[in-house]
Amino acid sequence: MIRKRSNRIGARLLSVMLAALLPGLLLLAAGCEAPGGTASRDVPTSPVSSMPAGNGAGEEQEAPEQPIVLGFSQLGSESDWRMANSRSIRESAAEAGIELLFDNAEQSQEKQFEAIRGFIERKVDVIAVSPVIESGWEPILQEAKQAGIPVILSDRAVEVSDPSLYVTTIGSDFYEEGQKAGKYLLDKLRNEPGPISIVELQGTEGSSPTIERGRGFRDIIQEREDLVIQRAVPADFTVEQGKETMRAFLKELGGDIRVLYAHNDDMALGAIEAIEEYGLRPGKDIIIISVDGTRKAFEMMVEGKINCIVECNPLLGPIIMQAVREIIEGRTLPKRIVPQESVFTEGMADREAANRQY
Ligand code: AHR
Repeated sequence: MIRKRSNRIGARLLSVMLAALLPGLLLLAAGCEAPGGTASRDVPTSPVSSMPAGNGAGEEQEAPEQPIVLGFSQLGSESDWRMANSRSIRESAAEAGIELLFDNAEQSQEKQFEAIRGFIERKVDVIAVSPVIESGWEPILQEAKQAGIPVILSDRAVEVSDPSLYVTTIGSDFYEEGQKAGKYLLDKLRNEPGPISIVELQGTEGSSPTIERGRGFRDIIQEREDLVIQRAVPADFTVEQGKETMRAFLKELGGDIRVLYAHNDDMALGAIEAIEEYGLRPGKDIIIISVDGTRKAFEMMVEGKINCIVECNPLLGPIIMQAVREIIEGRTLPKRIVPQESVFTEGMADREAANRQY
């Protein structure tokens, strides 16, 4: 199994080298996709064996090339961010002529394992996975490694003792996002005396954004001892749970809450409904800081109901497809690839709302 897989990638590599050395002789180089990206995997057409046979009179024949096959295990569809992320991956794969096997695990790590085993059985060229939680990945990544299939981590990180189990992580720096949220808050409250009560809507328990956004935020706000996180509860990155959990916070702490830090926009939107139901003004009575930067959240910021949005970019598809190609071509990738991201505050809302792509 290992040999077969590395032979396939090796064959692609060899063909890239041949194409560079013998331009005109070799028409099909590794990484070139078949028209429409739909070549069948049943026909063994490795780039090397598909070199033009010719008929002795200089005649060349074009042999069909197999597209690169990428197995992608998406963790779910819990938020607008996630929907934009899935769309970006599907669209960029189609544009790059990469055949995509896409699986939605609906928040289940077990389903992600099953999907990855399925990709291994189908002998895909590269596996990409957006891991729902951080722990528990070592055995399945070992299976992929033994099969000789390179793995890209998309969006979220994993905790493994052996970093050679994946090629690269493509996604945001969640720790930095938490720090940005904390810095905004320190600035916003610079003239407001404490004690100040904060509630935190965390994402999925045990996921890397939840862990890192929480850690980064705390590391910054600890500068002021009078800022107190009264409650920090996982609400799974969804509107519904954001609303329900905020209702519970309000029931317990009522008007004492001065700040809401929501780990994503969906939970912030749910919380805004709960705050209004309770009779308080989001963005005024309660300062709201959110993460992502969806169009809906920007609309809320235009209305003055969200004060700060820390951007987390879901449009990772083009970067992932580029990485897939480079892996197939045998290039070395950096262990971490982070997209450019900003922080948006009230004054910028109008201008930015119109530019949002998701
Ligand atoms: O992992 C990224 C996070 O997951 C996004 O912030 C959130 O909206 C999503 O569900």
